[in-house]
Amino acid sequence: MLQWVLESMPRERADWKYQVVLKMTSLSFASLHTTTMMFHNLLARLASRPDLRARLRAEQARVLAEFGTTATPTAVLDAMDLLDACIQECARLHFGVSTFQRVVATTDDEITLNHGRTTIPAGATVLLSPVSINMDPLVYGPDVDQFRPDRFLELTQAHLKKSTTVRSDFLMWGSGRHACPGRFLAISEIKRMACILLRSYDFETVSGKPFEFSSLFLGNIVRDQPVRFTRIVDLAVA
Ligand code: HEM
Repeated sequence: MLQWVLESMPRERADWKYQVVLKMTSLSFASLHTTTMMFHNLLARLASRPDLRARLRAEQARVLAEFGTTATPTAVLDAMDLLDACIQECARLHFGVSTFQRVVATTDDEITLNHGRTTIPAGATVLLSPVSINMDPLVYGPDVDQFRPDRFLELTQAHLKKSTTVRSDFLMWGSGRHACPGRFLAISEIKRMACILLRSYDFETVSGKPFEFSSLFLGNIVRDQPVRFTRIVDLAVA
């Protein structure tokens, strides 16, 4: 990544070194913060759901037995539909403020949207919030405020959509030609970490209650909610 940024930076810019640092810092934030928060949200949600943890372990055991040792890690992870659904449900509930930002580039002074009621001046910055879709009962059902990953299994059966699929009813990755190129890496990392953790430990909130989130934005949790980890010796036993 550093090499690519170095090569693409015009050297005639007096501040090119500063620009390289700026780009690398922004990229680190865009890739690490997002992935970390997504994984953290997943753990926080699962910590009060022994039923889901048991189903995820069973899924992992079934897929590993089915694929054996010769399949690629990607194929194995792709077959874990419930894990994928849990990640999608986390993404749905813990959205960012905006999913993408665009500058209106047009030769006219403004553009008018199809319904005719809104005009946007040329040069304006437009942001799209995922809230209206993510929390729309017409899209996700009447229980939109509940953590229910199975809704994505039901939707997946109908539409064959995975967590890495860019689509208008799932805006986690933005949209169009600028949709997040790091999504395959991010989902692969999250799934691998989740699999290792689930097969090695059980974990639950000490209070036995669900995690509290101070806001849903990228999963801000209320602090001081201890989690107890217990080592699991044999996945088959879990
Ligand atoms: C869960 C983790 C992640 C989330 C939720 C996320 C989300 C996003 C979103 C919403 C955008 C804006 C897309 C748009 O404008 O339409 C974006 C862009 C971008 N992301 Fe990610 N991202 C994640 C992980 C990563 C990782 C791991 C990398 C790199 C290794 C990465 C690199 C980028 C880059 C380079 C762009 C700019 C793409 C462009 O403008 O053409 N992201 N990401």
